[in-house]
Amino acid sequence: MNSKDNHQLASNIEIALQEPSIHQLPLLNTEVRMDVDSSSSSRLSTLLSEDLDFHSSDTGYATHDFHSFPAKFPPQLPRKFILGLTEPGEIVLDPMMGSGTTILEALLNNRRAVGFDIDPLARLISKVKTTSINIQQLTELGKNILAQATVQVENRYDELLVELETRWDSNTKDFINYWFAKETQVELLALVIEIQKITDEATRAFCELAFSACIITKSGGVSLAFDLAHTRPHRARVAYSPSGNLIIGEPSDGTENARTKLLTKRIRPALFEFKRKFQQNLKSLVELDFKFDKPLLAQGNSQNLTIDADSIDLIVTSPPYASNAIDYMRAHKFSLVWLGYSIHELTDTRKDCIGGENTSTFYFESLPDYTSNLVNELRVLDSQKGKALHRYYTEMKRTLREMYRVLKPGKIAIVVVASSIMRGKDTETGKCLAEIGNEVGFNVPKIGVRQIDRNRRMLPAGMKVDHTSQIQQRMHEEYVIGFYKPQK
Ligand SMILES: C[S@@+](CC[C@H](N)C(=O)[O-])C[C@H]1O[C@@H](n2cnc3c(N)ncnc32)[C@H](O)[C@@H]1O
Repeated sequence: MNSKDNHQLASNIEIALQEPSIHQLPLLNTEVRMDVDSSSSSRLSTLLSEDLDFHSSDTGYATHDFHSFPAKFPPQLPRKFILGLTEPGEIVLDPMMGSGTTILEALLNNRRAVGFDIDPLARLISKVKTTSINIQQLTELGKNILAQATVQVENRYDELLVELETRWDSNTKDFINYWFAKETQVELLALVIEIQKITDEATRAFCELAFSACIITKSGGVSLAFDLAHTRPHRARVAYSPSGNLIIGEPSDGTENARTKLLTKRIRPALFEFKRKFQQNLKSLVELDFKFDKPLLAQGNSQNLTIDADSIDLIVTSPPYASNAIDYMRAHKFSLVWLGYSIHELTDTRKDCIGGENTSTFYFESLPDYTSNLVNELRVLDSQKGKALHRYYTEMKRTLREMYRVLKPGKIAIVVVASSIMRGKDTETGKCLAEIGNEVGFNVPKIGVRQIDRNRRMLPAGMKVDHTSQIQQRMHEEYVIGFYKPQK
């Protein structure tokens, strides 16, 4: 992207600030429109008929593996559509970018990229993965941070303990005290103090991400949590501090039940973990040849995109699960509190996440017939869950409406979703989103199906393999929906 284009796109993004449009749309025919009217639409159908699984592909090249992220794309998935549906220099958008897989693939393939996410950690990950930094300087800096943080821990331990008492508001402090051993807190604080001294923004962000990657892992990294990829993190029942002291629970006498054994944790030293993560990311950075322009990445809501109408050439995205099965913000606050966010602030941001359960002040919209019936059937079984599903489909309707608005006519949006089970009922997310997309004006020529690679992907809780259950089998499928915006 040259600087003129960059400036143009940036000014579009600023100018097009809009209020969320929450007007009611008239109910349309329930049949999903499958008619097509252009060659790009038939190219789309062909792409969706091809292999979308990518199980034997290398997914960790370039900077893709900088930070763990549940339910992220295999990079080959967005790449397939980027190469098949756009030309170099065209603009690719991901309005719920997560760890930025689409953004990075767009750039690696010489396209321009725009990304939004409500979650500040998603923005940080996407930014660092696509920013070029002087490797030599970074190597020296990494050594320096570690050396200084080690000195702080050795010489100023008591002062750091005092700072831990005064640095946060009481809610945030309670959260930190519950989820982190004191020894770990001291090491993390020493690291954060050193990272905050870095004046160059890109370098600081690189260090913040390596820091976050020590905490946000499926097993909870250096925190006292397990299952950070799941809806509700569990606290260790038995935990040993980095220096080997028992800090939670009773010492093992060999008679503990299986659950207690599973929830026993030996916390690794945070300084050691930081060094490991920093070096690992540095190695990927060395291998990446940065020739591309900066993407435009912002914290923002997919239901209210600050982009001009008819300005985007392709969208490739995946929303959260309908049942809030992966609660991104709940997990990500484990590192965000260390990076300057308060629990109060993060709780507020989480309210705008698609798939949230709170419906008391939510403004619902009407849904097309098939989706509406499905929601009503769930409401009969469980009123609260029915409302939560109505909220989800309303939020997705607003998102699809925005995607329709910002796409150029004749262009395509690819939306990858999985179904959820709520009260034993399949939410049929692929089918319902196709129906909603149709209502907001898209044609839906085809829905592709892909099998999730269970060995690789961090899945929500309860998604264990059961080969006998048909519904469980379906839960391991994803639907790749192609939405085509007709020419005017
Ligand atoms: C399934 S993840 C996307 C993963 C991504 N495709 C990747 O490869 O990393 C869904 C993302 O939607 C984001 N999200 C949820 N509600 C949102 C909203 N209202 N606006 C923008 N992003 C939102 C979540 O924070 C999460 O990062």
